[in-house]
Amino acid sequence: MEGTAPEARKTARRASTPPQHVAIIMDGNGRWAQLRGRPRLFGHQAGARRVREIVRACPDLGVRYLTIFAFSTENWKRTQTEVAGLMRLFRRYIEKEARDLLESGVRVRFIGDRVRLEPRLVALMDFLEELTAENDRVHLTIALNYGGRDEVTRAARRLAHEVAAGRIDPDEVTAETLARFLDTCLLPDPDLVIRTSGEARISNFLLWQSAYAEYEFVDTLWPDFTAEEFAEIIARFGERERRFGGVKA
Ligand code: IPE
Ligand code: IPE
Ligand code: MG
Repeated sequence: MEGTAPEARKTARRASTPPQHVAIIMDGNGRWAQLRGRPRLFGHQAGARRVREIVRACPDLGVRYLTIFAFSTENWKRTQTEVAGLMRLFRRYIEKEARDLLESGVRVRFIGDRVRLEPRLVALMDFLEELTAENDRVHLTIALNYGGRDEVTRAARRLAHEVAAGRIDPDEVTAETLARFLDTCLLPDPDLVIRTSGEARISNFLLWQSAYAEYEFVDTLWPDFTAEEFAEIIARFGERERRFGGVKA
């Protein structure tokens, strides 16, 4: 591609069907801090700073939907200090980034169970969702107190109430019916799921939605994950052949 203008190069990179929806399990903050002899929260702070860079990279890469795993339903098992520090970090992230997200056309949504989250955090989440509701350039979804099983369970419970109330016929329940009750009901399924830090597991992330997602497990610890590495992964995705259970044409 020598001699091509930067614009043409950008288009060329984009030509090989980018993933519409990328989901990221941002893992490795604790180990990143440990390697530096610092407390785990130091790693979480560094991790939070990475988010901005990755969100900003999305439009040029052709990624419309980005979903990031920030806190799982199992992460409450951590020490009170770490959990409280993370909750403070989420509040600060929203306060600090709201204006920039609004101005860069990012629509923010949160998925996960809000019931267990502190009211002042939930208020900020509602505020950011409302503030950015008209944006459409990039759809950023933040999974906070999110677990795939918990999400499907909550969806099933609400669906069961609808059936009990006579509003849905049990014989008419399809996969699409259930999907309408999921936290992600307004999002397309992820095409690509990335996990950093070398762990090759999904840790309860988007279990239902990732049925046909492509996976990329990279060794990089989340605070070291750059927009360049993100772009390389997106380019590799374009070379994959997705069959969805069918056969090659
Ligand atoms: C991911 O980093 C962030 C959260 C789960 C909140 P970790 O905190 O899991 O970092 P490691 O896996 O211990 O290195
Ligand atoms: C998954 O990472 C959750 C988030 C990135 C928020 P964990 O670090 O909690 O997952 P496990 O415990 O290694 O499976
Ligand atoms: Mg981890």
